[in-house]
Amino acid sequence: MMTLEQRLTEIKIVPVIAINDTQQAVPLANVLVENGLPCAEVTFRTEAAEESIRLMREAYPEMLIGAGTVLTTEQVDKAIKAGADFIVSPGFNPTIVKYCQQRGVAIVPGINNPSLVEQAMEMGLKTVKFFPAEPSGGVAMLKSLSAVYPVKFMPTGGIHPGNVQDYLALKSVIACGGTWMVPSDLMDKGDWDSLATLIREL
Ligand code: 3PG
Repeated sequence: MMTLEQRLTEIKIVPVIAINDTQQAVPLANVLVENGLPCAEVTFRTEAAEESIRLMREAYPEMLIGAGTVLTTEQVDKAIKAGADFIVSPGFNPTIVKYCQQRGVAIVPGINNPSLVEQAMEMGLKTVKFFPAEPSGGVAMLKSLSAVYPVKFMPTGGIHPGNVQDYLALKSVIACGGTWMVPSDLMDKGDWDSLATLIREL
C-alpha cells in the first residue's frame, strides 16, 4: 500500500476546497476524478465539510481525501469518521499532532519557520505543509529550509499557475496545494464544465 507521501508525490497538486453545500460534493469529486485529479482537501471552514467528505468517500473509495483547516480534536474525530485519509492544519499545534498520531491518521501541519520544522521533526513528522507559502518567503524560504532539514514540504497559500512549477521544481516539495483550480463561484453556480476545463488545463 502506498504511503500518503507517495500518493501526494504522484498527484502533485492538491485542490483545497471550501464546500458550501453538501450537494456539491459528489459532482465535484466526479469532475476531479474524471479529469485526472483524484484528490481533494476539504476544509473545515464550512459546515458542509464532514458530510461532504463522507459523500465523496462513498462515491469514490479510491480517491485521496484530506480534511483541511482542522483546528480541534473534535474536527479530527469528525474527519476520521467521515473517511478522510489525512488531516491538514494551517499551523503547528502539538495537541492536534499528538491526537492524530494516537488515532493513527496522517497529519500534515502547517509551518513557516525553522523552529516549527524542528518541533514537527521532534514529533516524528516527515512531511509538513509550508503555509502561507508566498507571504512566508516563497520558494527562496523553502530552499533555505530544505538545505537544512530532511523533511518534505507541501506548500500552499498564494500558489497559482504562474508559480506552481517553481515550487514543484524543488526536490523537497512533494505536492502543492491551493484553491485556484476550484473557485467557489463556479461550484456555487454548478458550472462543472468550466471546472473540468480548469482541472484539465492544470
Ligand atoms: C490553504 O488552506 O491551504 C490555503 O487557503 C490555500 O491558499 P490559497 O487560497 O492561496 O490557494
